[in-house]
Amino acid sequence: MDILPLDLQENIEETTSLLETLKSRNEHMFLAAILITSFGKNKSQLEDINKQLKGVAQKHSCELKLLNYQQEQGLNSSLPLGNNLIKIQRSLITTSTAIFVPFTTEELCSSSRESLYYGLNALSNNIILADRKELKNPNGLILGTPGSGKSFMAKREICNTLLTTNDDIIISDPENEFSPLVNAFGGQVINISPNSKDFINIMDINLNYSDDDNPLSLKSDFLLAFFEQIFSKGLTPIEKSIIDRCIKLVYQSYLSSPKDENIPLLIDLYNLIKTQKELEAQNLAVALEIYVTGNFNYFNNRTTVDLNNRLVCFNLKELGTQLKKVGMLVVQDQIWNKVTRNRNLKVATRTYMDEIHLQLKEKQTANYTIENWKRQRKYGGILTGLTQNVKDFLASPEITSIFENSDFICMLNQGGGDREILAKYLNISPTQLSYVTDSPAGSGLLKVGNTTVPFVDKFPKDTELYRLMTTKPNEIIK
Ligand SMILES: Nc1ncnc2c1ncn2[C@@H]1O[C@H](COP(=O)(O)OP(=O)(O)O)[C@@H](O)[C@H]1O
Ligand SMILES: [Mg+2]
Repeated sequence: MDILPLDLQENIEETTSLLETLKSRNEHMFLAAILITSFGKNKSQLEDINKQLKGVAQKHSCELKLLNYQQEQGLNSSLPLGNNLIKIQRSLITTSTAIFVPFTTEELCSSSRESLYYGLNALSNNIILADRKELKNPNGLILGTPGSGKSFMAKREICNTLLTTNDDIIISDPENEFSPLVNAFGGQVINISPNSKDFINIMDINLNYSDDDNPLSLKSDFLLAFFEQIFSKGLTPIEKSIIDRCIKLVYQSYLSSPKDENIPLLIDLYNLIKTQKELEAQNLAVALEIYVTGNFNYFNNRTTVDLNNRLVCFNLKELGTQLKKVGMLVVQDQIWNKVTRNRNLKVATRTYMDEIHLQLKEKQTANYTIENWKRQRKYGGILTGLTQNVKDFLASPEITSIFENSDFICMLNQGGGDREILAKYLNISPTQLSYVTDSPAGSGLLKVGNTTVPFVDKFPKDTELYRLMTTKPNEIIK
């Protein structure tokens, strides 16, 4: 042993320390070939370049060898085909191999059976697959300037959901953008308008409406929000008490015998309010009149629509500006009714609310929306809000909590101020922000849980689906 040659002794030491590293530091051994392709206009220029390359490598104590007689194999192996035709390899441990892969990208690729396609990763071009049901809170927001592709994104997700899962889908559509797609998939479009024959009873309720013993507490929140929409100036405490008292009375017969024909109508509530002694009650009744016997009596009817279709779209376009917010609120309530029924059937309900900022302006309505946002998860609901007004989310701390209760956020092109807000609330780096600055329609940033990746989606335009989803006036099918 004493007369072992020096180099052999060194080899033994090296091997032992390598083995030690592999065992103790969770390293692996890789066989790697590192190829550099050089080009020159002629032979002498090529030799020049090769000399320079060798010089650079030598400075870092590396030796480059020419692939004499193997140029073709060398070129083919350096193409990104994952095919090494060169028979020279050397061993490297994980740490040393990693140096040669300096470009790390975050990927979103869920292997869940219900994961949906959200575009391509703009950095790596890998497919983005995500399953919102895997998130702590599957609710989501789609944010972007007009024309950035918010509705388009929602429609793409709706198509994928219909084809991949068994979930139900409801859309609150203030601009009548979704009906071509909904009709094509055999869904039901419910037109909410003063001339429509599809009626919705604003007083609808079912016994599962709330998790508490009393389904009325939630219904009362909703009706208070409805009254707030009628009184643009807000409700006084006295008015709130009167309304609350009458709500309890009006549902009495339903609660003692919960049959559909015992569900009250708005006119029943109106009559009750009128009989209250307070002066405020008379004011309330007069304000309510137009919704009961006047022009806006649309919601004072028994529900005639059937929400059993897997895909339902409420079209609110024909309600004027004044009724639109009320309409959206009523639709939220109908959606909640369906979500509670679906929970018993163990079916998830996905809801899309376009122009959600219209529900965040007034206090009571905003509160109802926020509470709805928080409740949905427990009931197997998956809410998605679409809006161009990111600033509205800062109006109050309660509204900001929508951010915290949404683990899926899709950011399309953003205006300057909105970018700053998002950067602050969602911890987005300046580099990432560049993907939502002047970005083309259908591309931006996708935040799923704690992972944020830039994405692109160029939906092929010569397809039936594109024609059903576009909102560009010159592309819309007649
Ligand atoms: N992923 C996409 N691929 C191709 N075109 C898109 C994509 N997303 C949006 N667009 C184009 O942009 C237009 C506007 O999109 P839309 O969703 O209606 O905008 P928004 O709802 O944000 O106002 C669409 O009609 C479509 O032509
Ligand atoms: Mg839109």
